[in-house]
Amino acid sequence: MRAMVIERTGGPEQLVAAEVPVPTRVGSEVLVRVLAAGVNRVDAEARAGLGDSAGVPVFPAVLGHDFSGVVVEVPYAAHALHVGDAVYGMAPFPRAGGSYAEYVSVPSSSVARKPATLSHVEAAGVPLAALTAWGMVVDVAKAHEGQRILVHAGAGGVGHFAVQIAAYFGAHVVATGSQRNAGWLRELGAAEVVDYDAVDLERTVRDVDVVVTLVDDVAVAEASLRVLRPGGVVVHAPTASYAGASVAAEAAGVRTTGFAVSPDAATLSVIARLLDSGDLRVYVDDVYDLDEAADAHTRLERCHTRGKLVLRVADE
Ligand SMILES: NC(=O)c1ccc[n+]([C@@H]2O[C@H](COP(=O)([O-])OP(=O)(O)OC[C@H]3O[C@@H](n4cnc5c(N)ncnc54)[C@H](OP(=O)(O)O)[C@@H]3O)[C@@H](O)[C@H]2O)c1
Repeated sequence: MRAMVIERTGGPEQLVAAEVPVPTRVGSEVLVRVLAAGVNRVDAEARAGLGDSAGVPVFPAVLGHDFSGVVVEVPYAAHALHVGDAVYGMAPFPRAGGSYAEYVSVPSSSVARKPATLSHVEAAGVPLAALTAWGMVVDVAKAHEGQRILVHAGAGGVGHFAVQIAAYFGAHVVATGSQRNAGWLRELGAAEVVDYDAVDLERTVRDVDVVVTLVDDVAVAEASLRVLRPGGVVVHAPTASYAGASVAAEAAGVRTTGFAVSPDAATLSVIARLLDSGDLRVYVDDVYDLDEAADAHTRLERCHTRGKLVLRVADE
């Protein structure tokens, strides 16, 4: 099959097209013909040999976690999914991946029915980012009415889901983003938008119950501690800014935690219902062909994507 692989870690130029064997489906896995693959910052980190993904690849490594496509093989006849079903999902993270390819074989617990109203390109932009947002905002923060949640980088892949999900559950959402995204963030459900370039966060925002940090910046992490009410919590997605911040959090009388996303078919099914009902939207900023994955990584690493980037693997 056609795939985008890396032979070694490094810059986006390490991503090259190659012919590799179709993965063999084993155990409870489902084999999926991939029509589109979402691009995530964690893919770029795996490519560069950074973060949780450092040292994970066995070369040549097929990168990519998010996919949308069609079931080709199921583990057993009575399985809930059938050959030909349209599905979306997330390959295990960070140790395995493999969605930048024509086929991917993933545990049944990683794959759910695709939202019916979305194209495969749109659906491929959802899994890892929406599961991260759900995990931080619902599982950890327990988003609810009367709660004030600050989302740093509200316009990004994870952020645009976090803003919507927090607002859906009734929280008062404050989002940081650049001026060009302010109106859009309000449309997504942010009650307040803070232009991180122009405004001093600590002068503008206070008494926050939960900060969702999606920016890998120690200064942002430290400023976050000072906008929380006593006992509030910072939930960090980027692992790099967490270690230093945890000590400072204790001194400031607030709490802090990291977060690590897992594939979760049950939550993806709930997310699919919200997407189909229109309560949740995915924004795809740009679409690249599979063999343009390096261009997509270069764009992503400029850190100003609105929503998601997606690779088109095959025609729908
Ligand atoms: N722990 C986990 O399980 C997990 C899972 C997924 C992602 N992550 C991490 O979460 C982070 C976010 O991922 P992502 O996919 O959402 O990234 P992304 O899509 O690349 O984020 C891009 C967004 O960041 C915004 N931004 C850049 N600098 C900013 C700043 N200083 N303040 C506020 N916003 C800023 C940009 O907004 P403007 O264009 O308006 O500037 C842009 O919309 C990454 O560090 C990623 O590695 C962790």
